[in-house]
Amino acid sequence: MTSSYGLQGRAALVTGATRGIGLAVARQLAAAGALVCVTARDAEDVRRTAAELGGVGAAGSVADAEHLRALVELTVREFGRLDVVVNNAATNQPYGPLMDVDPQAWREAFTINVEAPLRLVQSAWRAWMRQHGGAVVNVCTEGAAHVGPHVGAYGTSKAALLHLTRQLAGELAPKVRVNSVSPGLVRTEMARFVWEPGEEQVAAGLPLGRIGEPEDVARAVVWLASDAAEWVTGADLLVDGGTRVRAAHDSGTYAIHDRLRTGFLRRG
Ligand SMILES: NC(=O)c1ccc[n+]([C@@H]2O[C@H](COP(=O)([O-])OP(=O)(O)OC[C@H]3O[C@@H](n4cnc5c(N)ncnc54)[C@H](OP(=O)(O)O)[C@@H]3O)[C@@H](O)[C@H]2O)c1
Repeated sequence: MTSSYGLQGRAALVTGATRGIGLAVARQLAAAGALVCVTARDAEDVRRTAAELGGVGAAGSVADAEHLRALVELTVREFGRLDVVVNNAATNQPYGPLMDVDPQAWREAFTINVEAPLRLVQSAWRAWMRQHGGAVVNVCTEGAAHVGPHVGAYGTSKAALLHLTRQLAGELAPKVRVNSVSPGLVRTEMARFVWEPGEEQVAAGLPLGRIGEPEDVARAVVWLASDAAEWVTGADLLVDGGTRVRAAHDSGTYAIHDRLRTGFLRRG
């Protein structure tokens, strides 16, 4: 990154920041000069990540409303401010047809993927952003624009997060900008069940010829969080290697949704 984009000395809170996209976001924010607070459930991973970034962290689930309040308190106490919130942690469970979905698992998906981002923004708004302003970036998914087999709970909750992004963008302007990034298939643990069984085939079906790396998404998140995007709110930035435009790309079969249809299942 050649410019700090105005992030020098600002404070950022990133959920799901110990691996994958969230870790790449936290690293790039820190590299741009931001003070970073990280969270995830695994305490040792949180400790290691906070130490690597010279920041702070607290372990817990974003499903726990008290944990979200504590994160905001920690950030404001340690850094004296909270300028950026990145809602990145999510679950892709429960997997399977909606006719079989367990209502408790469905509620959990919405608690993590939709309610937690709202609660975190509420806390950040009350503690700092209402008065001083700020930027929120929610990590959605390119897949929220489609329906597909087995991913109904995930897709529905991410579509709700996309709507929440736009709603909050209107409600919180002009003090706080709220945007989202929608990644296509990215090389992380969460998506391993999709890309690992046949990465070359998946990549060949994408107009840009490869699956995404966490850093591809992180650059977009950091840009939206920065002053470089000061006149952007309510936007969704697709970072998908051309997934949405593949129908116009002459590369044979597009593999990702075929692969999902075959029913690989990730547990956890
Ligand atoms: N990878 C893709 O292809 C892809 C595509 C579209 C969208 N996305 C979105 O990108 C975001 C990041 O996904 P990823 O692929 O980077 O996942 P990942 O590699 O599995 O990382 C997930 C991170 O979130 C943390 N986490 C998970 N559940 C949590 C919870 N309940 N509370 C707090 N932290 C939690 C994990 O740590 P712990 O396990 O220790 O909690 C980890 O740090 C998600 O919103 C996902 O929906 C990913």
